[in-house]
Amino acid sequence: MIQAGGYAAVMHERYVKITGWGKYVPERVLTNHDLAQMVETSDEWIVTRTGIRERHIRSDGDTTSSMSVAAAQDALAVAGITAKDLDLIIVCTSSPDYLLPSVASQVQHLLGAECGAFSLVAGCSGWVYGFTTASQFIRSGQYNRVLVVGVEIISFAMDFTDRTTCVLFGDAAAATVVEVSDQPGGLLASELGSDGSGAMALYVPDGGSTSPVTQRTVDEGRQYLRMDGQEVFKFAVRTLASSLKRTVYEAGLTPDDIDLFIPHQANARIIEAAARQMRVPLDKFYMNLDRYGNTSAASVPLALVEAIEEGRIREGDTVAMCAFGAGLTWATAVVQMGTVEESAADSLFLPARARYLARRTSDIVLDSAQSALLPLYTFLYERRKKH
Ligand code: ACO
Repeated sequence: MIQAGGYAAVMHERYVKITGWGKYVPERVLTNHDLAQMVETSDEWIVTRTGIRERHIRSDGDTTSSMSVAAAQDALAVAGITAKDLDLIIVCTSSPDYLLPSVASQVQHLLGAECGAFSLVAGCSGWVYGFTTASQFIRSGQYNRVLVVGVEIISFAMDFTDRTTCVLFGDAAAATVVEVSDQPGGLLASELGSDGSGAMALYVPDGGSTSPVTQRTVDEGRQYLRMDGQEVFKFAVRTLASSLKRTVYEAGLTPDDIDLFIPHQANARIIEAAARQMRVPLDKFYMNLDRYGNTSAASVPLALVEAIEEGRIREGDTVAMCAFGAGLTWATAVVQMGTVEESAADSLFLPARARYLARRTSDIVLDSAQSALLPLYTFLYERRKKH
């Protein structure tokens, strides 16, 4: 079933803009080479079949709520507002801290916000579902400022002895502030889709009310994610291209009008196939999956944040974002990112780029300093061993 909607012809003047963005990525990196020590796989197989080189896995102290808060604080700072200004918080995830309470309430409390909060489960499509939902609250006039977080500690549901799944996923959080604007642009069209007949293609067998966890189910590893990779692959290729095209046309545009496509970062081959089907050059599809793998609900917003930081999205650009995943679900949103009339937009985009360049420079300087100091550390270590 598809629920599609174009917003270009709506009469009233409540447009929906993304005004803040932020991310949190755990420090711990798990490379393909590390995985090759754990299961029968190789860097070559993973890179050729998926495009993934490494992924981040939660470090000690990282929780779904703490990662959400870290990303949200950055997003609030970019938007220039505080948590008290928020009217609603939506946290999109399939890996909450607890089954109950909703992790969104934990995030609301930790941020010091005074508003409603709920979690949204739509697999990897979560954030696009959440963004579309937030937009409806804003367009209806009920709310003016909504925080939408896409976050996942998907590694908790990974069987690190199953090479068919454990090489694909990673942990991350990304957050966006979505606000009302009287300037045309922002969300132009969106589509939400679901085909529950494919539910068992990607699921966690136990831990829900149908099959609570017992010692027997744990012994059988039924608390881990199971996936029919080929089935999901076929669904993804079919859906990515068709949903993107439908929603772009719904917005009154053609694929040529889109400055950047931001697809769900599951597999480079899925993205390449979609680009071919749409006859769009591959370099118009943003990819960062080589560094993060599939971060599920965090995937599309993380790619959006990094595309802004890298200067791949400029003020006034139109982006088309599409995610797909467990459910099976999919969701697409076409968004114009700021307009020339909005003087604030420029001052938002430039600091993001400046921060990105500063962070990259400091990483390079730190790496060089560490390499330069390595012989000294080794000498001191050897000397200490001798005495
Ligand atoms: N290393 C080495 N060999 C492997 C690995 C691995 N990590 N994984 C599978 N293989 C083997 C298989 O066992 C199989 O061996 P066999 O021929 O001896 O039986 C062979 O490689 C080929 O397996 P396929 O499943 O045909 O490989 P395929 O090219 O289809 O790639 C993959 C598998 C990467 C999983 C692909 O199907 C895929 O990306 N599917 C989509 C997955 C996806 O996007 N999931 C996320 C959805 S989003 C969400 O909501 C969480």
